[in-house]
Order: sequence, then C-alpha cells, then structure tokens
Amino acid sequence: MVVSAREEASRIGLDVLMKGGNAFDAAVAVHFALAVCYPQAGNIGGGGFMLARTASGENVALDFREKAPAAATRDMYLDADGNVIPNLSTLGHLAVGVPGSVDGMETLHQKYGTLPWKDLIMPAVDLAEKGFILTELDVIELNQYFADFESLNPYNKYFRSSQPYKVGDTIVQAHLGITLRKIANDGKKGFYDGPIASMIIKEIKRGNGILTFEDLQNYQSVWRTPLIGKFYGYDIITMPPPSSGGIALLQMLHMLEKLKIKKYKINSAEYLSLIVEVERLAYADRSHHMGDPDFYKVNSSALLDQGYLKGRYAGIKPLKYTPSVNVTPGKTESEQTTHFSIVDKFGNAVAITTTLNSRFGGKVFVTGGGFLLNNEMDDFSSKAGVPNQFGLLGDSANAIEPGKRMLSSMTPTIVCKNKKPVLITGSPGGATIITSVLQNILQTLLYNKSLKDALAMPRFHHQWYPDKVYLEEDWSLYSSIIDQLKKAGYPLEYRGSIGRVDAILKKGKLYYGGGDPRGDDMSAGY
Ligand code: GLY
Repeated sequence: MVVSAREEASRIGLDVLMKGGNAFDAAVAVHFALAVCYPQAGNIGGGGFMLARTASGENVALDFREKAPAAATRDMYLDADGNVIPNLSTLGHLAVGVPGSVDGMETLHQKYGTLPWKDLIMPAVDLAEKGFILTELDVIELNQYFADFESLNPYNKYFRSSQPYKVGDTIVQAHLGITLRKIANDGKKGFYDGPIASMIIKEIKRGNGILTFEDLQNYQSVWRTPLIGKFYGYDIITMPPPSSGGIALLQMLHMLEKLKIKKYKINSAEYLSLIVEVERLAYADRSHHMGDPDFYKVNSSALLDQGYLKGRYAGIKPLKYTPSVNVTPGKTESEQTTHFSIVDKFGNAVAITTTLNSRFGGKVFVTGGGFLLNNEMDDFSSKAGVPNQFGLLGDSANAIEPGKRMLSSMTPTIVCKNKKPVLITGSPGGATIITSVLQNILQTLLYNKSLKDALAMPRFHHQWYPDKVYLEEDWSLYSSIIDQLKKAGYPLEYRGSIGRVDAILKKGKLYYGGGDPRGDDMSAGY
C-alpha cells in the first residue's frame, strides 16, 4: 500500500511493490515522482525525514534535513537596527538551505533497497518528459505564485506561463528529466557534483545567495535513533530532533492519557479544550528547548520525563482556558510539505515527510536544472521572540549557525501494537503537522474511527503563540461546541485547511490506505 499526495506517485510506488521491491524501494520511487508531479513540496532541492520499521522489527530514522550554508550567520536576516527584514528568509536565493533529499534517498537505498537505483528513478524521468496533468488544486496554487515566479526566475519557462494555468494543462519538464536521468545514472554525485551542482551554484550567485559548491559536497544525511513512547498500550515510534515533532507528539499523548482523554466524547468541547491545553505546553517547550542536536543539547529524556510532564499538566481541567501568557517553556534544563506512507508484503513500513518549506519553496528555480530550491532557512529563529512564517517562536537553541539543521515540525510516525505496525502516518502543514498527526492517532486508535472518517473530521490547532485556537471552517457546523469553548474563554479563529494526513491503518488483517480529502492525495494498493 502506498499513500501520497498524488495519484501518479502512488501508482509508481505500487508498481515497484508489485515488481517485488520493498517499501524502501517504493519510497525512493515515490520521492522522485513527487519531485515531478507535486512541485509544491515534492523535491530534489529540499530535504526531509524518514521513519521506518523493518520487517525484522528494527526502528530507524533518517535525517536528510537541509543545513545552513557554511557562510550563514546568526543575524543574516536582520537589518542594521536588528529588525528582521521581511521575506529575506522565505523568498529567493538567500533563503536556501543545503538540499538533503538526493543524499537521503541514496543513503536509504544503499542500506535497505533491493531493486536497482536507476529502475526506481526512471519512472520519474518518464513523468517529467511525458508530463503530468494539472488538477484544480494545482491550478489554484500555481497561479497564486505567478508574480513571485516571474520576478525571481526571469530565465525560466517552467511554472511561469504567460497565460494562467487551466485544469487539464500538461506540464512537461524537459530540464528536470535531464537532471533526474543524471541522478539515475550517477547517484548523488549526479546532483552534488558536476553540471547540476554548477547550475545550482550559478543560480544561487545570480540571486546573491550564499550556498557554495563546498556546501553541496559536504552534505551528509544522518541516521538518528527514533523516539519511542507508550500511549494506551501502543508503541509510538517517531522522529527525534532536529524535528520537534516527535518530542511534542509524545509529550501531548502522555499528558492526554494522564488527563484521561478517553472519558470524553471525540470532538466534544471538553475533548478540544484538553488537547488545546497540552498543545500549548508542548509548543512552549518547542520554542525554547529544541534545535539541531548536533549543535544544541536537546534533553529529550528530560522533556519526556513523566515527573516533568506531571508538573506541566497539573491544573489542566476540561474547559479551563489558560492564557498563553501564563505558560512559559518548562524548566528542565503558505505552509506546505508532503508526507507519504508505504507498507510492503514483507512487513516493512516507511513514513517519509519531505519539504521545500513554503509551497514551491523560495520560488527559486535552478536555471537549466528544472527544479525548485527550498526556503528552509526560515525554519530557524531569525531573531528570538520574532515569529517565523508559521508563527512559531524560537531562541538560541534554534538560532542560525553554519552547518546547523533548522528545527522542523515534520513528524513521520509509526504506531505498533504487539510489535506490529498498525498506523503509519504523517502530514504536511508547518506548525500544524504535529497536531494533525496527534489527531489522526487519537481518531483512529483511541476512538476507533475508520481512516476515511478520521481524515474527513475537521481539525483544530493551537501552538502556544499566537494564543488562538485555529479551526477548520467545518467547525462552524458544530455551534453548541463552539459556544461552549467561547464561553470558557478560548480565542477561536477559523482558517483554511489544516494538515494533509496520508496514512495507512491496519484493522484485522487488512491495511486501509487513506489519502487526505483536503488534497489530490491517493492511496494505491494490491
Ligand atoms: N518546513 C516545515 C518543517 O520542517 O517543519
């Protein structure tokens, strides 16, 4: 079973599985296919995380997150008065972190792949050369960024049509086809060295960026030790730092179990209020205690310590609103990304979340290379106390340093019961990734909703600051719940869709694939 943001990518992954490939082979093929048909977030110019559980019961986490270029400095996005310069960390060439995706795919293939590397990339080459067809959502998202593409990429014809795009238009990406062919033939060297690397550096120089050839050459993915926590008898296996997602998810699940969340009806006002209160605490910790573990000692065990958490959730009661100003990090010492989930006949389960950060990254296209570069530098804290594009706060733990990975919210997660995967899940959505994954776990495993029903439920989100409870529009249909929350003092705000969970749920002997109805996501299985 493969579930991803696009039908084309899910079918390519399924094909790999049906040819006898394992979930890791399929993951490589899906990742490169998404770089073609889901340029909003699928990428070779970005980075991501893989969380997997092998058929033999090994839990693994691969970090192929982007890094700050060697020439990056702590105050690079501040003006002479120390104020953050708008858009510098989100748009254009200075926003680019060193891409990790191609290295990540090769690293995971070398360790766990069984089919030849080239065979896994050629379907993406084919898709680039033959083209993919734009959906309604693609058209909305592409036309929305016309002005940015126009100003940042005067030499590029891709995604810069003189006419607005229409549903059904075919996008052929000849340059990307050549780039992917090079990677298919030469592996990661085809990207981090030679003509493609030169094109990247030329493009960066054209826009006064700081990424260098040495940054590309020095990039290396890192195997990390997954975090594992318990929740109502399930084992939750999730992503460690430099993601904040795993720690925050495990903190919230633990506190919710202790607060006896199961006593309350799903989506009742009490249920929402308890979840909002634990989200407030977890995101407060995220802002202060988390960063790249290679640069900042993230004390995961202290943050997940039951005694520590007990002190945090003491006092939380249903419908008792705690203003964020009364909550501080504990003392211990256009959002877009994409997620896909895969399980194979051997019992391997793979969850990958990968990103350019904003939709279409920093809107910088590598001239001649045919692909977009990330704007992941905005995931650093440019200045303590000043929110990034997702409204997230940070300080020195996540300050910019050369070669450091920026803190992420990506939360690829696998839940096991009796040592076997029962849920493979993850989501895009910037700050809302963690809370979307949390809700998916609660809906399917605690409240036994089918995956289809779970994905259709309206989501909500809270992140400490701003002190608002964000609600998807559909919540307006639940007026009595909304009234109760308002009466209890919760500051509510409606917004567009939250998260896009692509998950696989095992019930009995069957795997159910669920592509989030908020997008064009699709599952494919046999
Ligand atoms: N770029 C979104 C994240 O990593 O959290």
